[in-house]
Amino acid sequence: MTDCPNTSSPVIRDIIAERVSRRSFLSGVATFGAVAAGGGFVGSLFAGESFAASAASSLGFTELKRVYDKDMAVAPGYTAEVVARWGDPMAKDVAEFAGAVPSAAEQLLRFGYNCDYIAFMSLPKGSSSADHGLLCVNNEYISPNVIFAGMTEDDAGQKMTKDQVDFGMAAMGHSIVEVKMDGGRWAIVTDSPYNRRLTVETEMHLSGPVAGHDLVKTKADPEGRIVKGTNYNCGGGVTPWGTVLTCEEGASDTFGGKTSASPIAAVLDRYGFDGSDIYGRARFHDRFDMDKEPNEPNRFDWVVEIDPYDPASTPIKRTALGRMSHEASTVVRNKDGRIVVYMGDDDYFEYTYRFVTKAAYDPARPETGKDILDEGVLSVARFDADGSLHWLPLVHGEGKLTAENGFASQADVLLKTRLAADAVGATPMDRPEDFETNPVTGRVYAVMTKNKKREQDKLNPANTRPENLWGHIVEMIPPGGRGAEADHTADVYQWDLFVLAGNPKDAATKANFHPETSDNGWFVCPDNISFDPEGRLWVATDGANDFGLPDGIYGVDTEGPARGLPKLLFTCPAGAEATGPCFTPDGKTLFVSVQHPAEDAETLDKATTLWPDFKGTLPRPSVVAIRKQDGGAVGA
Ligand code: FEO
Ligand code: CA
Ligand code: CA
Repeated sequence: MTDCPNTSSPVIRDIIAERVSRRSFLSGVATFGAVAAGGGFVGSLFAGESFAASAASSLGFTELKRVYDKDMAVAPGYTAEVVARWGDPMAKDVAEFAGAVPSAAEQLLRFGYNCDYIAFMSLPKGSSSADHGLLCVNNEYISPNVIFAGMTEDDAGQKMTKDQVDFGMAAMGHSIVEVKMDGGRWAIVTDSPYNRRLTVETEMHLSGPVAGHDLVKTKADPEGRIVKGTNYNCGGGVTPWGTVLTCEEGASDTFGGKTSASPIAAVLDRYGFDGSDIYGRARFHDRFDMDKEPNEPNRFDWVVEIDPYDPASTPIKRTALGRMSHEASTVVRNKDGRIVVYMGDDDYFEYTYRFVTKAAYDPARPETGKDILDEGVLSVARFDADGSLHWLPLVHGEGKLTAENGFASQADVLLKTRLAADAVGATPMDRPEDFETNPVTGRVYAVMTKNKKREQDKLNPANTRPENLWGHIVEMIPPGGRGAEADHTADVYQWDLFVLAGNPKDAATKANFHPETSDNGWFVCPDNISFDPEGRLWVATDGANDFGLPDGIYGVDTEGPARGLPKLLFTCPAGAEATGPCFTPDGKTLFVSVQHPAEDAETLDKATTLWPDFKGTLPRPSVVAIRKQDGGAVGA
């Protein structure tokens, strides 16, 4: 990740100047309510809600005690069971994982590494089955330091052999596995025809304004329309027509060579392409060497649409949704039928985006979803000190997005999304990770993981803490009403700071949760989120290990007397982050990806855990199913 100190635009300077009045407003509200100042929860500043003196959380479970450990742990009355581990067979006649790193060819038949975003897609298609479906799971990256003996994170890119590099390419991407519940336990259907691995070698189409553009043409694809594979898949989303969106996050780490051969070298620099090649690909595969194939990087960092119900389908990169370190792609069908996708660009000082389709989607005619994501308006958010949020369109020919300013076409705007967002004066955020819409209230939650690089003179109304090591959650409030009445296409929303993460007992953090938050309940580094069917927010964290704590899953009410009061449900084993929380439609299973267990170890021989098997030498990233022992809804 690179530092992008893009705070030079006049609009941003104005916002920073305004933050003082915003802060006065904050403290005014804090003293207006029943909670004492000094970390008291401030409620919803702009919607007129306040906080309660006594919390009545809607979450019925007894909170887990937080312990950093070799094993995962879950709250009393719950079970957490492994469903799919790295290396588990995904095809008939493939042997059980034997404890050795598979070859690339073998890995293609096995569940991928470092599971991340999870979509549960009910079977049969169109049903809301909660005990049978497809788990569509991103496999974001590999952790060579705990896969291969004698390698560290820093030297693996130079040390890996071609076989090891090829294994890595086969272990990243996306895994689709059929799963069934039997007797309260989930298991993979090993020989399912739906089972499929997608990797950086899988053929995909480019669609939307960038397809066929000169900057995406390569030796292997002179038309600029057919791409080999997807890469660094992190967050995602599900469309109403039954497809999965997988987000390409960090292509910059997977390329070697120099950007200078590119006609848009400055753009690649802005996107962090520094030739780091941390998985060693450029040494063996020319297309990952920017000196040899300068346009190949432009074919990554898009949102990719996958049809998991058709194993023969070709995934499609939807370029109209912009190019960035894509994290979330949360899909909402607006009340007028148009499809809205909220997206974050996960890097320091990057932005919050929204895409609104031109056409409406008709649920009675699922075919209206086909290619609907190819045409629409991409916008970027400016958070003002008065509590208003303005969506600034990134449309070629409007405002500064003209040829004179380096944007020759809409394709050009999209290839240079970050620069277009700079030009219109978007608000630089503290690493925007996951976004989700509350199905009950219609409010949209945008998670800022952290930003150690934010300095005092770069503060703005939505990013209020210098050296933000703890992260925060921003609430975006569309006009129009609750739930389905919310207008997700409006130009202007309101916004609020939902929680400021950190230890509330440490005043220096300026953490802000509900005042009754327990010693186990506060969290740091919120990362991925999900809503249960009741509209409660579930937060997965990534970065607690830096504070001597396990990462985990916290439930939290977003309205009512316990608004902003988190409770700890689940903790990961050592070195792992919790990612991709995903509920079945009945709310009774919460799937969670336990990503990169033991990755905090310098080398494999020092692995901090061998979770989940606790035998052999290899820890295994895995998807876990959390269920209530009495069969009730998670959190009830
Ligand atoms: Fe892949 Fe932004 O986490
Ligand atoms: Ca993430
Ligand atoms: Ca999510």
